[in-house]
Amino acid sequence: MQEANRMKRLPPYLFTVVDNLKREVRQQGVDVIDFSMGNPDFEPPRHVLTALREALHEDGVHRYSKFDGVVETKLRKAISNWYKGRFNVDLDPDTEVLPCIGSKEGIAHLSLAFLNNDDLALVPSPAYPVHFNGVIMAGGILYNIPLKEEENYLPDLWSLPRETTRLSKLLFLSYPHNPTTATCDLAFYERVVRWAADKPMVIASDLAYSDFVFTGKRAHSILEAKGARRQCIEFHTLSKSFSMPGWRVGYAVGNKDILASLAKTKSYCDFGLFRAVQVAATKALTGPQTYVKKIVAIYKQRVELLVDGLNAIGWEAKKPKATFYVWARIPLKFSALTSMEFTELLIRETGVAVSPGTGFGDYGEGYIRFALVVEENRIREALGRIDRLLHASV
Ligand SMILES: Cc1ncc(COP(=O)(O)O)c(C=O)c1O
Repeated sequence: MQEANRMKRLPPYLFTVVDNLKREVRQQGVDVIDFSMGNPDFEPPRHVLTALREALHEDGVHRYSKFDGVVETKLRKAISNWYKGRFNVDLDPDTEVLPCIGSKEGIAHLSLAFLNNDDLALVPSPAYPVHFNGVIMAGGILYNIPLKEEENYLPDLWSLPRETTRLSKLLFLSYPHNPTTATCDLAFYERVVRWAADKPMVIASDLAYSDFVFTGKRAHSILEAKGARRQCIEFHTLSKSFSMPGWRVGYAVGNKDILASLAKTKSYCDFGLFRAVQVAATKALTGPQTYVKKIVAIYKQRVELLVDGLNAIGWEAKKPKATFYVWARIPLKFSALTSMEFTELLIRETGVAVSPGTGFGDYGEGYIRFALVVEENRIREALGRIDRLLHASV
């Protein structure tokens, strides 16, 4: 049996490689401290759990979801109101809001909805992997735009070859950015929207980390930019802000024609979200938001503990302004190794699991990413182990 060529073109999913390594060392009795996945470790808010439990007994909750059901309509309204409250962006809940089975699902299907075989898609690199893997799975051609530290990890769209932009059907953006932790301001989105105005291109912004900004400033939605609705949509998720990654609830908002195509594609593949999850997600979006503030403060403390600790043991690292990641260059002592080789060495020698920079694309080489989904005492334990590795004589 032969897999489709599209699937063969996918780069190895390095998170699976890291997972296998974790499994292997655990089997050897190693206590793994796992910073590898952005998989929140907090319990979701209590009132959301209660809503889920109660919803399980509601009439019709176990049936297939349908667009004009009461539960579905309430969730789309809640998303629309949340966007209004957060970004002052007005969204028609019926045409400009589309719930997804996690934002990853929506992002993957967006490429399927818009790319013909060999159509070009512009994807900054490094990036959250489904931005580029979705393009490859849809049969499209990936055009990587390098994100550079000295350019604050913002893509230079303005120097792309004219022919490339003419042929591109999709552009992905994502700020606050996973994995580099970079942020952007509204002026950047406004420039992008002006640049794209004469190009028949779908722009997809992935706003998974809008709540995770440590500077006191707020993250912006691309839909705040004038004219954005002409060709932009935005993905968001409850996975991070409400610690609900396993629930699979996210959504897309923005241009109604793009969303209609995405909805059409999805309708051939899925039946929407479990209704009880929709009820609880509605509760999360409409209920008190104190939970979000609380977990962001804890993530900030963890991030600072890790970065201060790394610097103290001689591994230079910068404090992120946003997200719950630390994007760090491979320490000087190991700079001859690739990010995957260093990741493997770190797990094998210390039991500390991180993600290799190249898991996020070729331009992630030279870096690794820590996800701060680990309690403070375990962060201290990890720092001690890394210290011993950095200062061991070889
Ligand atoms: C930038 C970004 N987008 C999307 C996702 C996926 O989120 P979801 O759980 O909604 O699929 C993640 C998860 O880590 C992410 O980092």
